[in-house]
Amino acid sequence: MDAIVSLCRRRGFVFPSSEIYGGLGSSYDYGHYGVLLKENVKARWLEAMVRERDDIVALDSAIILHPQVWEASGHVAGFNDPLVDCRFCKKRFRADQLAESECGKRPSRHPGETPECDLTDARQFNLMFETRVGPVEETGKSVFLRPETAQGIFINFKNVAQLARRKPPFGIAQVGKSFRNEITPGNFIFRTLEFEQMEMEYFVPPDDADEWFRYWVAERRRWYLELGIRESHLRIREHDAGELSHYSRATSDIEYLYPIGWSELEGVADRGDFDLRSHTEHSGTRLEWVEQDGSRYTPHVIEPAAGVNRAMLAFLCDAYDEEVVASRERTVLRLHPRLAPVKAAVLPLIAKDTGMVEKARALYEHLKHAVAVEYDDSGQIGRRYRRQDEIGTPYALTIDEQTLEDDTVTIRDRDSLAQERIPIGAAREQLLDRLAAPWRSPKQ
Ligand code: GAP
Repeated sequence: MDAIVSLCRRRGFVFPSSEIYGGLGSSYDYGHYGVLLKENVKARWLEAMVRERDDIVALDSAIILHPQVWEASGHVAGFNDPLVDCRFCKKRFRADQLAESECGKRPSRHPGETPECDLTDARQFNLMFETRVGPVEETGKSVFLRPETAQGIFINFKNVAQLARRKPPFGIAQVGKSFRNEITPGNFIFRTLEFEQMEMEYFVPPDDADEWFRYWVAERRRWYLELGIRESHLRIREHDAGELSHYSRATSDIEYLYPIGWSELEGVADRGDFDLRSHTEHSGTRLEWVEQDGSRYTPHVIEPAAGVNRAMLAFLCDAYDEEVVASRERTVLRLHPRLAPVKAAVLPLIAKDTGMVEKARALYEHLKHAVAVEYDDSGQIGRRYRRQDEIGTPYALTIDEQTLEDDTVTIRDRDSLAQERIPIGAAREQLLDRLAAPWRSPKQ
């Protein structure tokens, strides 16, 4: 993980937040390439979940919802983790994860294992961030920052079902920030206090729920594989009964083999009718499906719930590679071209050659409206290639002496390092064709 963190910092993908004030644990800021990569992850998700389907519509609900939403959802009563403090080292631990945690003073031991450890009894700690709406502290209303995007979807079920004129099975998809006051955040952007989720609630007739659950587990696994995640690093793990959330009838996690070990990347849950029924009871609004003959039922919900940041971390880990080329070490991000922040770099071989610069600028202007391209004329060409390799740019187009003679450029492939000479006039079409071609990770 250290190599990934270091590359993210070096190339401006992700860096610690509030650094000039000493940083705030487990909060991160995303720089230019981090933003572009994160946007591509979300765009691919929206494409697969909304744009390429006619049974799912999009929603963007508020982050701060009526406080009763969280009573109905069960989060006020049950979104707790058991917490213990150590009076000696002052560290906090999840009581159910002591065996995997490190003692604050003796990291080779687990909390409670040294004579100095002085642990409190476990107490329940609600993970929701609470804040107040209203100008006056005393009279303001207590509200929560949402810990999941899903509830904004459930409370809009009636609106969307009517306005979007969909009948079950249909889904509502939402991408947005969620907040959790995690007791043990960490492992870079794997577990943070604020993060983005990509959640889709799929409303189905109750009898069809099992079938749709299996469908969505397979579909979501396929999405990661199509975007280049190696099959060897992806697995499905079913929750056993003791592990299920309060709303869940069944859950399967899609896990990725991160450098920290197999960990949850996305959860697919069969939430039954828990949410629509509970919001119906608490709000008095019937969240049901009414058939044309007047019969009614409460749809069941299948929920694929993914984390944007966790997905981005998995794509980064899967893409990170080091190799030796011509006796020199090369670090390369073998990202799927559809995820890569920059699709091609346009490089004049000699930055001071006005003829080359002119041609390169013209090519860059020609390409930039079609794809994300970068113009780079700073430093030796070798260093520029390495910089592009480290940010995962699949192609580099180089303008050299020969370009000035015959209007051809070289196109360099990030993964194979093969270079081919092509007419400059065909560069745009060739680039688009290559970017659209199927891609598999060359990593083992
Ligand atoms: N609506 C269901 C739900 O929120 P979850 O398993 O708690 O389920 C879904 O969260 C996904 O959100 C997780 O699989 C993970 O990718 C992401 N996620 C959850 N907590 C996170 C955190 N503290 N930091 C980063 N990502 C998180």
